[in-house]
Amino acid sequence: MTTTSTFSPALTPEVARATAPIYDRLRNVIPEIEWPVHAPWIARINELKQQHNAIILAHNYQTPEIFHGVADLTGDSLALARQAVETEADVIILCGVHFMAETAKILNPQKTVLIPDLDAGCSLAASITAEDVRLLRQRYPDVPVVTYVNTSAAVKAECDICCTSANALEVVESLGSERVIFLPDEFLGLHVAEQTEIELIVWKGHCEVHERFTAEDLHSYRKQYPDIEILAHPECPPSVLKEADFIGSTSGMIRHVGEQKPNRIVMITECSMSDNVAVEFPEIEFIRPCNLCPHMKRITLPKIFNSLQKLEFQVEVDSEVAKRARLSLERMLAVG
Ligand code: 13P
Ligand code: SF4
Repeated sequence: MTTTSTFSPALTPEVARATAPIYDRLRNVIPEIEWPVHAPWIARINELKQQHNAIILAHNYQTPEIFHGVADLTGDSLALARQAVETEADVIILCGVHFMAETAKILNPQKTVLIPDLDAGCSLAASITAEDVRLLRQRYPDVPVVTYVNTSAAVKAECDICCTSANALEVVESLGSERVIFLPDEFLGLHVAEQTEIELIVWKGHCEVHERFTAEDLHSYRKQYPDIEILAHPECPPSVLKEADFIGSTSGMIRHVGEQKPNRIVMITECSMSDNVAVEFPEIEFIRPCNLCPHMKRITLPKIFNSLQKLEFQVEVDSEVAKRARLSLERMLAVG
């Protein structure tokens, strides 16, 4: 696959002019020497979007040149699912991982949904299959099954309702059941279980990015910066969450920073979050421990350009699977 065959990225005066306002916002997170590499792609992608009536949805973990340079809408998994339903565009390019693009396709079967790299997976989605869910149902008949959206369409189709890290507690409590099967993220499940009387049967899947943080990491930040505010994603292990001042989805963390405006923070999550949020809050000091999501990082500007130019890679979901998975997603969207 060549991504540059019909386009030679060059920082012409026109490109420099068109992208100057974008770089003004990003100069704290992208070194000046790197900008000539990004700017031509950004300018060309923004032109192509208009030609194809396309919209770019980007997850909060996308790099700042994507997040602030070409994305039309950004957010956590829940916001991206909602925005996918509301868009008038003909083409949706999902800059995130495969389950997010699949969710957009399931909610928009008539639209073209593209992902710039088909191999952008997720360790949680890979931790469970539809067959696993069928076996769980046999073992626990009559116990409703909640699945985190970080799963394949086939898994969603076997479950009763989806949730994200932003609404997991509300979804579990909406079912009116004393016991609920919660999959596949063990740590998110344990975090929900701490806040409810409902008994959760949890699958033991983990996020390969968040499981690597340790309570010792957090202790050392507190020791070094006694006034630090620690924000953590609920995919982190319980010992890490215990040490955090705020626990929330990626957008929940951004909202918290905007409301509380702490002087100094550390975000216990994927690397690009701090960069993207620092653009909005230059007055806050971000301490940056860095765990990269290798799947999110497969998405790059040249691949987005390729995706728009060739209208690839189209995300398709078997229609029977999509019909059942859509029910799980729509039930979640009805809860909140
Ligand atoms: P959010 O829904 O909080 O954005 O999380 C998605 C994800 O993949 C976190 O690792
Ligand atoms: Fe999956 Fe973790 Fe990457 Fe999120 S950060 S996409 S949960 S592997």
